[in-house]
Amino acid sequence: MPRQSAPAGTYAEYVVSPARHLAAKPPGLSHVEAAALPLAAVTAWQALVDTADLRPGQSVLIHAAAGGVGHLAVQVAKERGAHVIGTARIANHDFVRGLGADEVIDYTHTDFTTAARDVDVVIDTIGGDYGPRPLKTLRPGGILVSLASPAEAHLADRARALGLRSTFMITEADQAGLKEIASLAASDRLRVRVDTVLPLEQAAKAHEMGETRRTAGKIVLSVSG
Ligand SMILES: NC(=O)c1ccc[n+]([C@@H]2O[C@H](COP(=O)([O-])OP(=O)(O)OC[C@H]3O[C@@H](n4cnc5c(N)ncnc54)[C@H](OP(=O)(O)O)[C@@H]3O)[C@@H](O)[C@H]2O)c1
Repeated sequence: MPRQSAPAGTYAEYVVSPARHLAAKPPGLSHVEAAALPLAAVTAWQALVDTADLRPGQSVLIHAAAGGVGHLAVQVAKERGAHVIGTARIANHDFVRGLGADEVIDYTHTDFTTAARDVDVVIDTIGGDYGPRPLKTLRPGGILVSLASPAEAHLADRARALGLRSTFMITEADQAGLKEIASLAASDRLRVRVDTVLPLEQAAKAHEMGETRRTAGKIVLSVSG
């Protein structure tokens, strides 16, 4: 993820990158797995560790726990010793539990604001219609980390008035974070799920699949020489 959050141009066979934006691929990972990890996993790391400062014993609600960011966030949060609650459709519950989640909420039938209360951290990759509802699940002093859209930045004032914290975060190029992720993956404590691999010629199809918001894990584009 070189130069993130500037356009990185990584739909390419060759990419120029500052060396300080890179980390070595763990030998045990395939190139497809290694390609699927950086942006989503470093997003999870920066949200949970750098932004929320998640501590052992704290609780975290992770929306879209089966998604690209979400399924890695569940694993990073468990690694940090947290109690993890995820949201997913019932079809993904076994997958999310298998990642280590302690509780999974079927958001299609259950209002997450009644099923999750007094959590320390919320990771929200949904935003939009959720509006301020994720704030209802926080304990006093808890933090909402919004990832979906800068539009969620307006929640900061509302959160402050309620004795809570809310911040919108954009992932940055991060060699230190990448090395942490690589180390977890190398020791099998973090596994990326690859939903689909498509050739670069089908990049448009990959985007259409992503836009359905129904993929579990990551989509990878394969560029052959
Ligand atoms: N701020 C940043 O720097 C940053 C970095 C990376 C990503 N993002 C953003 O984060 C968001 C998530 O990205 P992603 O790649 O993780 O998404 P994704 O993989 O496309 O998410 C798909 C998942 O979302 C779940 N989902 C859809 N609607 C849901 C809902 N209402 N409640 C709970 N789960 C729901 C689906 O699970 P079910 O089938 O179980 O519903 C599916 O597994 C995107 O908006 C992306 O742009 C931001």
